[in-house]
Amino acid sequence: MLVGTKSTPAIDKASAFAPVNIALVKYWGKRNSELNLPRTSSLSISLPVGTTTSIQTHSVDALVLNGSSMPLTTPFAERLFAFIDLFRQNHMPLLITTVNDIPTGAGLASSASGFAALTRALDIFFGWNLTPKELSILARLGSGSASRSLYSGFVEWHAGTREDGLDSYAERLDESWDELSVGFWIFSDKTKPIDSRKAMQQTVDTSLLYKAWPDVVARDLPLMKEAIATKAFSLLGQTAESNALCMHATMQASLPPIIYFLPETIAAMHTIWQWREKGLEVYFTVDAGPNLKLLFLKKDKETLLSCIPELQIMKSGFQL
Ligand code: PMV
Repeated sequence: MLVGTKSTPAIDKASAFAPVNIALVKYWGKRNSELNLPRTSSLSISLPVGTTTSIQTHSVDALVLNGSSMPLTTPFAERLFAFIDLFRQNHMPLLITTVNDIPTGAGLASSASGFAALTRALDIFFGWNLTPKELSILARLGSGSASRSLYSGFVEWHAGTREDGLDSYAERLDESWDELSVGFWIFSDKTKPIDSRKAMQQTVDTSLLYKAWPDVVARDLPLMKEAIATKAFSLLGQTAESNALCMHATMQASLPPIIYFLPETIAAMHTIWQWREKGLEVYFTVDAGPNLKLLFLKKDKETLLSCIPELQIMKSGFQL
C-alpha cells in the first residue's frame, strides 16, 4: 500500500474527525508489535465524541494539542511524527493541530480517535482517496485500536493471519441499537502508570494466564455478536464485563503485575453488582486505566444519574 511510497500534498490544509471507541471484546496482545497486529479479533462501539485533526504545510514541524503548543520531544509528538514519516516525502514540515472533544478529566486515552482522525486527514491532504478498509489498515500502524475508530456504531477488527497485516482491519457491523447507552464513571484522570503498548508486551511475555486469552475471545466474540443482533442486553453486558475482567486477569498475572484498578474502581464494581441484584441492569467495562465505562439502557438513565450524579453520559441510544 502507501507505506514506503512517499506522498506530496494535494491541497494546503486538510481536517478530519474520528470517534472514540470502547471495546466490548478487548484487544490485548500483539503478534507483531511493529505493525500492531493483534493476537485476537476485537469488537467495539464508537461514541459521538472524538478527535478533530488538521494538517497543513508549515515552515517547521509543529504540534498543537487542544490549543497548546507541544514540544516535539514528548512521546506523543514523537509517535505522531514517526507515523507521518511513513508517508511524507522529504520530511516536508507540517503543522498538526489536534483537538479532543472528550470531556476534560474523562481520563480517556485518545490515541485511537487521534490516529484515526490523523489518517483521515492525511488521506485528504495527500489526495489518496482510500477506502475505509485501507484507512483502517493504515490507522492500525499508529495505534491498534485506531483501526476501529474509522467507523461509527458497532465495529469488528479482524485479527487476520497475514504477516504483512493486509487482512488485519476493522469493519462496521450492520446493526444499530437505539436503547443502548454508555456513561463514564471517572475516578482519576492521572496518566496511567504504564501505557497499554508496554503493558500488553509485558503480559504476552510473562503472564501464564495470557495463554487462555485467545479462548476467552473465541467464546466472547460470537456471544457479543449474538447479543447485538438480537438486542439481548443482559448477554451484551455480562459478556463485556467478563471479557474486561479476563483481560485484567491476564495482566495482573504478569511479572511484575500490572494493576490499573484503584480502590475506588473495585468499590464501584461491588456497587454495580449490588444495584444489579436489586434490579437495576447496569454493567461495566474497563480499559487500561482505573475508570469504568458503564453500559445501560436509555430507560434507566435518570435512575443511574440519581445514583451517580457525576456520571458522564456519552451516548444514550445508538441510532446509526
Ligand atoms: O490501541 P492501544 O494500544 O491503545 O490499546 C488498546 C487497549 C485497550 O483499550 C485496553 C483495549 C481495546 O481493545 O481498546
